[in-house]
Amino acid sequence: MAAGQGRLAGLSVLVTGGGSGLGRAVVDRFVAEGATATVLERSPEKLDNLREAHGDRVRGVRGDVTSGEDNTAAVEAAVSAFGGLDAFVGNAGLWDFGRAALDMSMAELENGYEELFGVNVKGYLLGARAAAQALAERRGSMIFTLSNAALYPRGGGVLYTASKHAGVGLVAQLAYELAPRVRVNAVAPGGMATDLRGPRAMALGDTSISDMLPTGDRLRRYSALDLAPSAEDYVAPYVLLASREESATVTGAVLDVSAVGTPRRPDPAP
Ligand SMILES: NC(=O)c1ccc[n+]([C@@H]2O[C@H](COP(=O)([O-])OP(=O)(O)OC[C@H]3O[C@@H](n4cnc5c(N)ncnc54)[C@H](O)[C@@H]3O)[C@@H](O)[C@H]2O)c1
Repeated sequence: MAAGQGRLAGLSVLVTGGGSGLGRAVVDRFVAEGATATVLERSPEKLDNLREAHGDRVRGVRGDVTSGEDNTAAVEAAVSAFGGLDAFVGNAGLWDFGRAALDMSMAELENGYEELFGVNVKGYLLGARAAAQALAERRGSMIFTLSNAALYPRGGGVLYTASKHAGVGLVAQLAYELAPRVRVNAVAPGGMATDLRGPRAMALGDTSISDMLPTGDRLRRYSALDLAPSAEDYVAPYVLLASREESATVTGAVLDVSAVGTPRRPDPAP
């Protein structure tokens, strides 16, 4: 779709971790809906791929979401390249590969906590702080990527589940603090095969969730809808929440699109 058309025509969005997986799918769809995107991402290769795919509709900023300075630089890049900011998508995350509390040494727990909460919670908060003023000027919105683990156990281990539950608190409190000028919402997707990594402090920095979920069968078993979704299957709620017209009344909401809260019915007897 050409610039100027689409459900997000003319909007400027900032997506953290937009280089792969769900963040990349959100960027691709937002651009297809007529938006321009700025991406804060730590991987230079992934930023190169984005540039190749989208040219000047996407501005890449290499940096780390755990740095306030990098978040501020990303917002400044979005404002200077595209004239302002309409949506901030906090999305970069780490997983703990389902490690149970008692399966971790005290050192893994201590350092894994710092690293995982640094990205999943502090990263979202610093991004929100950096983006708030620019969003207020345009009556924009924030959208955080949470997870089924923000609402239920078993979507990760204790660190990931606690970090995503903290994301629900960020949504509730920031929606309150930033009203009425900025809407703040979240999308809680279920599992999907992406490049999602773990903390280096738990020796999981080079392991990808796709290594653990090589086929869709394991995902299907958790889904009430018998689905093994891809990242692209989850992007429509982001379009809805970013659109002022389509979600003018929505703030403080966590859209659970994971299909794991409703238990799956047992297979019929053969
Ligand atoms: N994959 C799943 O099963 C699943 C399920 C539910 C929720 N999620 C959530 O989706 C979000 C996106 O994850 P994904 O599955 O697409 O994984 P992904 O690894 O493919 O994408 C995350 C991106 O964030 C970048 N990133 C990581 N740490 C960063 C940092 N400190 N600074 C800057 N960039 C950083 C990575 O380079 C990567 O490009 C995460 O918040 C994750 O918790 C994933």
